[in-house]
Amino acid sequence: MKIVTVIGARPQFIKAAVVSRWLRQTPGCKEILVHTGQHYDENMSDVFFQELEIPTPAYHLGIGSGAHGAQTGRMLEAIEKVLLETKPDKLIIYGDTNSTLAGALAAAKLHIPVAHVEAGLRSFNRKMPEEINRVVADHLSTWLFAPTEAAVENLRHEGVPEDKIFLVGDVMYDAAIYFGSRTRADTLGKLGLESKQYVLATIHRAENTDTAARLRDVFGGLNAIAEEVPVVLPLHPRTRAALTRANLLDSYSPNLRLLDPLGYLDMVMLEKHASVIATDSGGVQKEAFFHRVPCVTLRDETEWVELVELGWNRLVPPIDADTIEAGVLASLRDKKIRSAPAHLYGGGQAGETITRLLQSPLAA
Ligand code: UD1
Ligand code: UDP
Repeated sequence: MKIVTVIGARPQFIKAAVVSRWLRQTPGCKEILVHTGQHYDENMSDVFFQELEIPTPAYHLGIGSGAHGAQTGRMLEAIEKVLLETKPDKLIIYGDTNSTLAGALAAAKLHIPVAHVEAGLRSFNRKMPEEINRVVADHLSTWLFAPTEAAVENLRHEGVPEDKIFLVGDVMYDAAIYFGSRTRADTLGKLGLESKQYVLATIHRAENTDTAARLRDVFGGLNAIAEEVPVVLPLHPRTRAALTRANLLDSYSPNLRLLDPLGYLDMVMLEKHASVIATDSGGVQKEAFFHRVPCVTLRDETEWVELVELGWNRLVPPIDADTIEAGVLASLRDKKIRSAPAHLYGGGQAGETITRLLQSPLAA
């Protein structure tokens, strides 16, 4: 079985690390890793390959940043060439980025069956580029590996045939278990932080960074929280660029600690020891739950609805700084004990299950 895996953005390196490890252990299976180059800074790409022991990609397409059409189009052209050269039996894509969309389109046009890991998630907001990417990717796929019951239901509602949908759990949960035990003991010390004495934040969504007014509100809210409790925020390069453009980068309290992006092992350590996590990231919302840390999601909606229903995740639409401050402080003060169903995201075997299903005659 020859499989091409297309990855390009930070969360995809983490997800692929899990499945790739299983594929490498499978006799007769050859995985050809293709890195589109969507993320390219050392701390947005290389660090994950080193820490998570991902093999060097066989193809690095070097696409880089750009407008959606230009970036996706360049990827499509380059991935098509790789597929024509390597002639794989299957192609794996992850999540909902432009790299996901380009991989799905290139393979589907060449009649190469597509396996979509993290299928079925929906925000029902077509203004999000990710929503468009995931809807198209799902409908071009042969194997839809859904992480949650809610994802399965979304696919059923869209008329995806039952025999294409596989509830396998979440590969990010596998990653949290497998790599989570390797976290660094010195992460907090290096940053002068004490366990459960800080808020961890991440912001990178287009809707929170692309208009100066929204960006000012989001960071104004986080800055107000930092007056009460230290806020640590590893800055996505998109957000750093937006803050620089808006002349905001140097305008905050030193208690709002703006860091460079972190490697996964440092990040997990900061997640585990945070009092509360405030984020607009998909992956970080779930990791908060994996480590049983309350989360505030600074978005209008989330794809991970089960966490909101259980009360682990508080959805706070970032309409202004006061709302953000009030939402995060309310979460900090909320001492309610919540239930944490053990298998909400599977049993930590999603990578193994996906690998098995891809080999099964049913899926051939
Ligand atoms: C992308 C995904 C998003 C995902 C996120 C994970 C799409 C449409 N969006 O968003 O779903 O949540 O990755 O982090 O695919 N940049 C750098 N260095 C890098 C990478 C990016 O400086 O290594 C800067 C560039 O200015 C670039 C901007 O970040 O224009 C945005 O990068 P891009 O990959 O287009 O989208 P993300 O915001 O990273
Ligand atoms: N992450 C990381 N370093 C950081 C910020 C995030 O390793 O500085 C990890 C995080 O732990 C999670 C993943 O990156 O595993 C989430 O990626 P991101 O927030 O960029 O994208 P999303 O999940 O929203 O698509």
